[in-house]
Order: sequence, then structure tokens, then C-alpha cells
Amino acid sequence: MPDLRIAPSILAADFARLGEEVRAAEAAGADWIHVDVMDGHFVPNITIGPAMVEAVRRCTDLPLDVHLMIEAPDRYVGDFVSAGADTVGVHVEACPHLHRSVQLIREAGARACVVINPATPANAVEPILSEVDQVLVMTVNPGFGGQKFIRSALPAVEQIRGWVERDGLQVDIEVDGGITADTIAEAAGAGANVFVAGTAVFGTDDYKAAIETLRKNAEAA
Ligand code: DX5
Ligand code: ZN
Repeated sequence: MPDLRIAPSILAADFARLGEEVRAAEAAGADWIHVDVMDGHFVPNITIGPAMVEAVRRCTDLPLDVHLMIEAPDRYVGDFVSAGADTVGVHVEACPHLHRSVQLIREAGARACVVINPATPANAVEPILSEVDQVLVMTVNPGFGGQKFIRSALPAVEQIRGWVERDGLQVDIEVDGGITADTIAEAAGAGANVFVAGTAVFGTDDYKAAIETLRKNAEAA
């Protein structure tokens, strides 16, 4: 299994103190920082743009895992990589030419992640597995933090982990949405190794304890 990573999502942080929040997550043991970019079209909410990614980049040396929940993401991949994204995730539902999108991310110099919504079959990413660094299986419908974990997304994680192992690939499998101390073990058991957690970290008053508990429960799975 690839390394286990806990990636706090700054969507649940206090934006008025974003620098402090990111540094606190790093000091608390976060492995990556997850950045949720929403455009008000692909998802109902509007959040973060490249300028904010650039600001976060100046606050931490941790890898920035940038999750694009936007229509026609190819237009912005270069801007987010220039701003400091280490990984860029694009939704298959928003990319009619997925190979081209993935190539664009890699040519810009970042790790390429493809993302599926909970109701999108795992098969949507099988043909491209050997060309990506990461697959993100959403465990909520994207758009907001603090939603309830959708358990029926887990068979997709299991299938994708099976294909990755069958083909001997080095692909991280990430889950995002409703990940808490209670749900993380199930996701880990299905084969995920990267865990995004917004509310379960930034919604607590002890980020270190929160991250330690998530890690412990994932390891125990
Ligand atoms: C949802 C975002 C998530 C969100 C997770 O659209 O992609 O990254 O921040 O929030 P929690 O962990 O609170 O469900
Ligand atoms: Zn996300």
C-alpha cells in the first residue's frame, strides 16, 4: 500500500486567518493541504481561485492538493500550477477529453488526479489509470463541507484499488467528503490511502489530536 496521507481541507478553516490555519495544520501533523476550488457552475458554491493558492503556497512547504470543481478546467490548470499546486484534480464529469486534461496537468509540471462523483461508475477512470498519479473518489456530492458520508461510493474505491494492484501501478487513491474518526476506517478498508478531512480537522479545537485520531483509525483498518 502507498503511504497514508491526511489532507486537511482549508474549506473548513477560518478564511480571515488562513495563513495561521494552514501553519497550524502543518504543525499538527498534516501531510498535505487540500484546496477546494468551486466555480458556481459545476457545483453551486464559489470558493477559491489561483491568488488564494499562491497565498497558501507562501505559508507552507506541504504539498498542495488542488481539487478543481469547475467547468472546463483545462482553461485554468496552468494558473493553478503556476500558483503552486503540486497535484491538480479534475472531475471526469467536467472533462470530455480526459486524456488531454491529464496531459495538460503533467505538462504544466504537476501530479495529475482524476475525480469521480459518488454516482459515477469506477469504469470511468479505468482506461486512464496508467496515466495518472492519483484518483479521487468523492464520498459526498461536491460543493460543500460538512456533508454526510456516502457509503455507496466505497465499492468504486475497492474496484480502483484492485485495478491499480492488478496492473502494478503507483496510484494514490483519495477519498473526500464526510471523512471523520468514525468513517475513515471503512474508506481505508476499501483501499483508500489519502484522506481529505475538512470539518473533522478545522472544526475541532485540537487539530493535532484530530489528525492523530484519523491516522490511528485509518492505520487500524
Ligand atoms: C466537498 C469538498 C471537500 C470538503 C470536505 O465538495 O471537495 O474537500 O471540504 O469537507 P468535509 O470533510 O467537512 O466533508
Ligand atoms: Zn475536495
